[in-house]
Amino acid sequence: FDAVDVIAAKRDRQRLSDAQIDWVIDAYTRGVVADEQMSALAMAVYLNGMERSEIARWTQAMIRSGERMDFSSLDRPTADKHSTGGVGDKITLPLAPLVAVFGVSVPQLSGRGLGHTGGTLDKLESIPGWRAALSNDEIMEMLSSAGPGAVICAAGAGLAPADKKLYALRDTTGTVSCVPLIASSIMSKKIAEGTGALVLDVKVGSGAFMKELSQARELAETMVALGKDAGVTTRALLTDMSTPLGRTAGNALEVRESLEVLSGGGPADVVDLTVALASEMLDAAGRPVGEDEIRSALADGRAMDVWRQMIRRQDGDPDAPLPVAAETEVVTAPDDGVLTRLDALAIGVAAWRLGAGRARKEDPVQAVAGVEMHAKPGDTVRRGQPLLTLHTATHERFARAMEALAGGIVISETGSQAAQAALARR
Ligand code: URA
Repeated sequence: FDAVDVIAAKRDRQRLSDAQIDWVIDAYTRGVVADEQMSALAMAVYLNGMERSEIARWTQAMIRSGERMDFSSLDRPTADKHSTGGVGDKITLPLAPLVAVFGVSVPQLSGRGLGHTGGTLDKLESIPGWRAALSNDEIMEMLSSAGPGAVICAAGAGLAPADKKLYALRDTTGTVSCVPLIASSIMSKKIAEGTGALVLDVKVGSGAFMKELSQARELAETMVALGKDAGVTTRALLTDMSTPLGRTAGNALEVRESLEVLSGGGPADVVDLTVALASEMLDAAGRPVGEDEIRSALADGRAMDVWRQMIRRQDGDPDAPLPVAAETEVVTAPDDGVLTRLDALAIGVAAWRLGAGRARKEDPVQAVAGVEMHAKPGDTVRRGQPLLTLHTATHERFARAMEALAGGIVISETGSQAAQAALARR
């Protein structure tokens, strides 16, 4: 095969053959197909799409590019959750220990944030001592009934290496938000991970990759079909990402909020989504549990007990104080009225610019940086009342974070969108 022929075929809207797909993914993983050729192919796929059968073959080829984990020797069923990415989406943190309470093991192999979306590993790394990288043996120990029964850790370099290369390339070539490429990227990792059941939290709205409901639905259906073909019980929920989840976006800030949920409190939207996803995971794993019983495991400390074991086993100190920002600024309401818009993308970009996210894959993140929200859409606010607290270690970052917020916060007298006054800082 020749890379140029494969690119030209997709450029000319042809269906790629199974052999072409197998070859191009393998050759790209080995460095025989160059980054510029894969970029051109990704753009051709972005523009011209792939049929379901092509996506399935592409996903299989990405799985075969690396190792597959196997949890079949565990004495318990496994279930995992994957979110397509959002702002303030800390759900994995309370969810993994919560599901483990009910005898279902949760192998949550997670990633880091890129762009305005947060990453689970970046959040957990704000806990002093906590270690993301585990060996396969350590992962098995964590998942067994002798361990906490859940693990949140980094996906090893051996898992779907084709996706690792391709995802980094897509991120710098404007080819991320494309259903065939997102579906194959996520599902190759989750199938290679070896989970028995999978619940997908497909985000839709300004802060998500899929801005429109129709696109999100297509992504969900494509991923569910890929999972079923691979023998993984797969379900999907479509959930709103037009405004951030909960009241925090940022690393240590989100850990703090997750601890509130694990202590039986926390914002209702975070608790409700955690419980809904836990219920789906337990049901998909063949161990259905009622929502009241799931909620009681948050209220009575059982989920917190599992969390504490999980953190300790990865060398974290669950009792250590979380880092706090040296610099904070409060953004106040410019008018009396109802907060009608608190845009997920605007808050996500502001948190990113404050230092919670990275511009390039190798950049460090600030544990302390992020945005705390004191009001949510629908709340009545008064002029001068604090709306947000911005947190960072670097004072110079406030100005660009404020720029990101312009237009993202709307207060209206009538509930309709009114002209927006300039936001004030103090
Ligand atoms: N998350 C992934 O893992 N891959 C994508 O392509 C998009 C979101």
